[in-house]
Amino acid sequence: MTNKLIIGNWKMNGSRASIKALLAEIVAAEVAPGCEVVVCAPSPYLAMCAHILSGSGVRLGAQDLSAHESGAYTGEVSASMLREFGCHYVLIGHSERRTYHHENDAAVACKTVRALEAGLIPVVCVGETPHERESGQTEAVLSQQVLALTTALSSSQLTQIVIAYEPVWAIGTGHSASADTAQQAHATIRRYLNAPCSILYGGSVKPDNAAQLLAMPDIDGALIGGASLNAKAFLTIAHAC
Ligand code: G3P
Repeated sequence: MTNKLIIGNWKMNGSRASIKALLAEIVAAEVAPGCEVVVCAPSPYLAMCAHILSGSGVRLGAQDLSAHESGAYTGEVSASMLREFGCHYVLIGHSERRTYHHENDAAVACKTVRALEAGLIPVVCVGETPHERESGQTEAVLSQQVLALTTALSSSQLTQIVIAYEPVWAIGTGHSASADTAQQAHATIRRYLNAPCSILYGGSVKPDNAAQLLAMPDIDGALIGGASLNAKAFLTIAHAC
């Protein structure tokens, strides 16, 4: 059975109480064999989540990391700190980071290398904006984003990363890419990567569209925003593996 990866990105949501309640339901649920479940929590809650998740099959991830190893970088969190506090995964280059924090492809590649050096699995987000899709630039944008990775990483490092295809027009809109559109983009990414990476789809994944998306040959899992804040919805998606 193929291994599918189901990652919840909580973004900047939750409180100590709501996260405890959410994790209690997720941990108590049976995860389908062949499916790895990960939750990406806001930084202040990572230690608490690591404690709750210890001994469970659910893995922990962070939502970002510093491009630097250590030193005078106020407000930043390093890869080794994340590793020390129980993270196995880290999201890198989410479109919200690219848009609001001006992270470019070079910064994303640099963070990816840092994550790998610390023993974290980087989940590198790529995807086109609505304008780029409408003007026929999807393939060019994806190939450019992937090129930054294939240039910065060795071929063995490339096999250790996960890619998340998140078309910006589908994030938080309720309008997921169709399974065919997502499959086409995933196949394009796979062709440019030329390495055996898992490629996840993200963008309005919900219980009612997950099975169709996850059935596509080049979709190896899902990165879920809004629906991951609801245990029932998140677990239904995980069960669609
Ligand atoms: O990283 C997940 C994300 O950006 C998708 O969010 O709310 O559309 O599932 P959402």
